[in-house]
Amino acid sequence: MNDPFLYELSFEELEQTCKACRACSLCQTRTNVVFGVGNRNADILFVGEGPGEQEDLTGEPFVGRAGQLLDLYLKAFDLPRESVYITNIVKCRPPKNRDPLPEEEAACIGFLERQIELIQPKLIVCLGRIAAMKLIKPDFRIMKEHGVWFERGGIPIMATLHPAALLRDPGKKEIAFEDFKNLLKKREDLA
Ligand code: URA
Repeated sequence: MNDPFLYELSFEELEQTCKACRACSLCQTRTNVVFGVGNRNADILFVGEGPGEQEDLTGEPFVGRAGQLLDLYLKAFDLPRESVYITNIVKCRPPKNRDPLPEEEAACIGFLERQIELIQPKLIVCLGRIAAMKLIKPDFRIMKEHGVWFERGGIPIMATLHPAALLRDPGKKEIAFEDFKNLLKKREDLA
Protein backbone atom coordinates (compact mmCIF):
# COMPACT_ATOMS: atom_id res chain seq x y z
CA MET A 1 0.00 0.00 0.00
CA ASN A 2 1.79 3.12 -1.11
CA ASP A 3 -0.90 5.75 -0.73
CA PRO A 4 -0.59 7.18 2.79
CA PHE A 5 -3.98 8.88 2.55
CA LEU A 6 -6.00 5.79 1.55
CA TYR A 7 -4.08 3.76 4.12
CA GLU A 8 -5.96 5.42 6.95
CA LEU A 9 -9.46 4.99 5.59
CA SER A 10 -12.16 2.64 6.88
CA PHE A 11 -14.12 0.56 4.39
CA GLU A 12 -16.94 3.13 4.25
CA GLU A 13 -14.54 6.05 3.86
CA LEU A 14 -12.63 4.20 1.17
CA GLU A 15 -15.84 3.51 -0.76
CA GLN A 16 -16.95 7.13 -0.51
CA THR A 17 -13.53 8.40 -1.56
CA CYS A 18 -13.49 5.99 -4.50
CA LYS A 19 -16.97 7.04 -5.59
CA ALA A 20 -15.88 10.69 -5.66
CA CYS A 21 -12.55 9.95 -7.38
CA ARG A 22 -11.49 12.12 -10.32
CA ALA A 23 -7.88 10.96 -10.52
CA CYS A 24 -8.03 9.78 -14.13
CA SER A 25 -10.06 10.57 -17.22
CA LEU A 26 -12.38 7.55 -16.80
CA CYS A 27 -14.36 9.74 -14.37
CA GLN A 28 -15.54 11.79 -17.35
CA THR A 29 -17.30 8.91 -19.09
CA ARG A 30 -18.49 6.75 -16.19
CA THR A 31 -22.10 6.50 -15.08
CA ASN A 32 -21.25 4.82 -11.76
CA VAL A 33 -18.09 3.93 -9.91
CA VAL A 34 -18.02 0.16 -9.39
CA PHE A 35 -16.28 -0.21 -6.04
CA GLY A 36 -16.96 -3.89 -5.29
CA VAL A 37 -19.51 -6.15 -3.62
CA GLY A 38 -19.68 -9.01 -1.20
CA ASN A 39 -18.45 -10.03 2.20
CA ARG A 40 -15.93 -7.64 3.71
CA ASN A 41 -14.54 -10.56 5.72
CA ALA A 42 -14.40 -12.90 2.74
CA ASP A 43 -11.83 -15.69 2.55
CA ILE A 44 -11.72 -15.34 -1.22
CA LEU A 45 -11.30 -12.13 -3.20
CA PHE A 46 -11.99 -12.15 -6.96
CA VAL A 47 -10.45 -9.36 -9.02
CA GLY A 48 -11.52 -8.66 -12.60
CA GLU A 49 -10.28 -6.09 -15.03
CA GLY A 50 -12.76 -3.24 -15.03
CA PRO A 51 -16.49 -2.58 -15.28
CA GLY A 52 -18.31 -3.18 -18.55
CA GLU A 53 -21.51 -1.55 -19.74
CA GLN A 54 -23.94 -3.26 -17.34
CA GLU A 55 -21.59 -2.76 -14.42
CA ASP A 56 -21.24 0.94 -15.26
CA LEU A 57 -25.03 1.26 -15.40
CA THR A 58 -25.72 -0.61 -12.15
CA GLY A 59 -22.60 0.17 -10.07
CA GLU A 60 -22.08 -3.55 -9.38
CA PRO A 61 -19.22 -5.73 -10.68
CA PHE A 62 -19.82 -8.74 -12.91
CA VAL A 63 -23.54 -8.38 -13.55
CA GLY A 64 -23.46 -8.56 -17.37
CA ARG A 65 -23.12 -11.75 -19.44
CA ALA A 66 -19.63 -12.50 -18.13
CA GLY A 67 -20.90 -11.95 -14.60
CA GLN A 68 -23.76 -14.38 -15.12
CA LEU A 69 -21.24 -17.00 -16.17
CA LEU A 70 -19.10 -16.21 -13.12
CA ASP A 71 -22.23 -16.70 -10.99
CA LEU A 72 -22.68 -20.19 -12.46
CA TYR A 73 -19.17 -21.13 -11.39
CA LEU A 74 -19.67 -19.60 -7.94
CA LYS A 75 -22.92 -21.55 -7.52
CA ALA A 76 -21.39 -24.78 -8.81
CA PHE A 77 -18.71 -24.52 -6.13
CA ASP A 78 -21.06 -23.42 -3.38
CA LEU A 79 -19.55 -19.96 -3.16
CA PRO A 80 -22.52 -17.59 -2.97
CA ARG A 81 -21.75 -14.04 -4.14
CA GLU A 82 -22.41 -12.81 -0.60
CA SER A 83 -19.71 -15.11 0.78
CA VAL A 84 -16.86 -13.81 -1.39
CA TYR A 85 -15.77 -10.31 -2.37
CA ILE A 86 -15.70 -9.25 -6.02
CA THR A 87 -14.01 -6.17 -7.43
CA ASN A 88 -11.85 -4.98 -10.32
CA ILE A 89 -8.44 -3.44 -11.00
CA VAL A 90 -10.07 -0.22 -12.23
CA LYS A 91 -13.32 0.94 -10.72
CA CYS A 92 -14.64 2.93 -13.69
CA ARG A 93 -15.55 1.59 -17.13
CA PRO A 94 -12.95 2.10 -19.86
CA PRO A 95 -14.79 3.43 -22.94
CA LYS A 96 -15.91 0.66 -25.33
CA ASN A 97 -14.51 -1.88 -22.85
CA ARG A 98 -10.93 -1.30 -24.00
CA ASP A 99 -8.13 -2.53 -21.71
CA PRO A 100 -7.41 -0.08 -18.89
CA LEU A 101 -4.38 2.13 -19.61
CA PRO A 102 -1.33 1.88 -17.33
CA GLU A 103 -2.00 5.38 -15.96
CA GLU A 104 -5.62 4.43 -15.18
CA GLU A 105 -4.48 1.30 -13.36
CA ALA A 106 -1.87 3.32 -11.48
CA ALA A 107 -4.44 5.94 -10.46
CA CYS A 108 -6.83 3.25 -9.18
CA ILE A 109 -4.68 0.52 -7.68
CA GLY A 110 -4.48 2.18 -4.25
CA PHE A 111 -8.19 1.48 -3.73
CA LEU A 112 -7.67 -2.23 -4.37
CA GLU A 113 -4.56 -2.30 -2.19
CA ARG A 114 -6.56 -0.85 0.69
CA GLN A 115 -9.49 -3.19 0.00
CA ILE A 116 -7.07 -6.11 0.30
CA GLU A 117 -5.69 -4.75 3.59
CA LEU A 118 -9.16 -4.31 5.04
CA ILE A 119 -10.66 -7.59 3.80
CA GLN A 120 -7.54 -9.65 4.53
CA PRO A 121 -8.61 -12.47 2.21
CA LYS A 122 -6.97 -15.86 2.58
CA LEU A 123 -6.86 -16.29 -1.21
CA ILE A 124 -6.99 -13.96 -4.22
CA VAL A 125 -8.19 -15.03 -7.67
CA CYS A 126 -7.45 -12.87 -10.70
CA LEU A 127 -10.14 -13.13 -13.34
CA GLY A 128 -8.19 -12.87 -16.56
CA ARG A 129 -4.88 -11.71 -17.87
CA ILE A 130 -5.17 -8.00 -17.10
CA ALA A 131 -5.69 -8.52 -13.37
CA ALA A 132 -2.96 -11.18 -13.28
CA MET A 133 -0.49 -8.89 -15.05
CA LYS A 134 -1.16 -6.17 -12.50
CA LEU A 135 -1.32 -8.29 -9.34
CA ILE A 136 0.98 -11.23 -10.05
CA LYS A 137 3.60 -10.17 -12.62
CA PRO A 138 3.71 -7.98 -15.73
CA ASP A 139 4.66 -10.85 -18.05
CA PHE A 140 1.92 -13.22 -16.79
CA ARG A 141 0.88 -15.75 -19.47
CA ILE A 142 -2.73 -16.70 -18.81
CA MET A 143 -2.87 -19.93 -20.85
CA LYS A 144 0.40 -21.15 -19.35
CA GLU A 145 0.10 -19.95 -15.78
CA HIS A 146 -3.63 -20.07 -14.92
CA GLY A 147 -4.28 -22.26 -11.88
CA VAL A 148 -0.73 -21.82 -10.58
CA TRP A 149 -0.39 -20.37 -7.08
CA PHE A 150 1.86 -17.36 -6.58
CA GLU A 151 2.13 -15.12 -3.53
CA ARG A 152 1.39 -11.43 -3.10
CA GLY A 153 2.13 -9.74 0.20
CA GLY A 154 1.90 -13.10 1.94
CA ILE A 155 -1.44 -14.01 0.33
CA PRO A 156 -1.69 -16.94 -2.10
CA ILE A 157 -2.90 -15.67 -5.47
CA MET A 158 -3.78 -17.37 -8.74
CA ALA A 159 -5.46 -16.47 -12.00
CA THR A 160 -8.10 -18.19 -14.03
CA LEU A 161 -9.52 -17.32 -17.43
CA HIS A 162 -11.78 -14.29 -17.61
CA PRO A 163 -15.45 -15.36 -17.95
CA ALA A 164 -15.72 -13.13 -21.05
CA ALA A 165 -12.97 -15.25 -22.62
CA LEU A 166 -15.03 -18.36 -21.81
CA LEU A 167 -18.04 -16.81 -23.53
CA ARG A 168 -15.92 -16.20 -26.63
CA ASP A 169 -14.44 -19.71 -26.52
CA PRO A 170 -16.73 -22.11 -24.60
CA GLY A 171 -14.23 -24.90 -25.21
CA LYS A 172 -12.15 -23.35 -22.44
CA LYS A 173 -14.85 -23.64 -19.77
CA GLU A 174 -13.41 -26.93 -18.54
CA ILE A 175 -10.08 -25.20 -17.83
CA ALA A 176 -11.78 -22.65 -15.57
CA PHE A 177 -13.69 -25.47 -13.90
CA GLU A 178 -10.40 -27.16 -13.00
CA ASP A 179 -9.03 -23.85 -11.67
CA PHE A 180 -12.07 -23.49 -9.42
CA LYS A 181 -11.55 -27.05 -8.15
CA ASN A 182 -7.97 -26.09 -7.39
CA LEU A 183 -9.20 -22.98 -5.55
CA LEU A 184 -11.52 -25.00 -3.33
CA LYS A 185 -8.77 -27.51 -2.62
CA LYS A 186 -6.42 -24.69 -1.61
CA ARG A 187 -9.06 -23.27 0.72
CA GLU A 188 -9.51 -26.68 2.29
CA ASP A 189 -5.76 -27.08 2.72
CA LEU A 190 -5.62 -23.74 4.53
CA ALA A 191 -8.56 -24.46 6.85
N1 URA B 1 -15.51 -7.76 -16.65
C1 URA B 1 -14.70 -7.40 -15.63
O1 URA B 1 -13.49 -7.57 -15.68
N2 URA B 1 -15.26 -6.87 -14.55
C2 URA B 1 -16.57 -6.66 -14.43
O2 URA B 1 -16.99 -6.17 -13.39
C3 URA B 1 -17.39 -7.06 -15.50
C4 URA B 1 -16.84 -7.59 -16.60
